[in-house]
Amino acid sequence: MSAQDQLKRTAAKKALEFVPENAYIGIGTGSTVNFFIEELANSGIRIKGAVSTSKATSELLKQHGIPEVPLTEATELPVYIDGADEVNHSLQMIKGGGGALLAEKIVASAAEKFVCIVDESKYVSRLGKFPLPIEIIPAARSLVSRQLLKYGGSPQLRLNFTTDSGHKIIDVHNMPINEPLKLEDELNRIPGIVENGLFARHPAHVLIIGRAEGAEVIKIGG
Ligand code: 5RP
Repeated sequence: MSAQDQLKRTAAKKALEFVPENAYIGIGTGSTVNFFIEELANSGIRIKGAVSTSKATSELLKQHGIPEVPLTEATELPVYIDGADEVNHSLQMIKGGGGALLAEKIVASAAEKFVCIVDESKYVSRLGKFPLPIEIIPAARSLVSRQLLKYGGSPQLRLNFTTDSGHKIIDVHNMPINEPLKLEDELNRIPGIVENGLFARHPAHVLIIGRAEGAEVIKIGG
């Protein structure tokens, strides 16, 4: 396993401490979450069921015998566990590198607590080095790209990729992100944009950073 994967696993394992027994939990998408699913399966913690955010996560849950439930059935969702591409010191994030941002934002917004798990390379003082993923209606691709150019970034269609919902993704490189909350709301008002990968309106409540010396836990408000 690479050193970075080891740090992802360190964060994923620590997240088990935030999983309540006999409750529904939300589970995101990505390589860090894949470690979490493995750790959960081996932990002996019994959950009522997991709300998945992608076909890839659903497949892994099935392989590990963890029951999946649709969001409509999860009457209460005390916790949502997911990775991020970047997370800043206010626990606002860029997500969507794996292309599951739409379902991730929906399930995260339904949960009481968002626990974000990352390796230390993802913890940044300023968001935007990672290209900002934007999920769009395919037919609006040129229209949306022209609008995005006005924000100063460089939009690039993610090639050979369609989201689980049948949409396309534009990755905006070098996007100046001075006010994440304002930008998140503004982008979602552009016709043709389904959702964007800024998670500022729904930041994480808890951040677990995998470091060589162990897991660091940061909570908003201390
Ligand atoms: C998927 C995501 C992931 O959380 C993000 O891309 C991080 O992935 P990884 O854990 O593989 O680094 O937002 O849409």
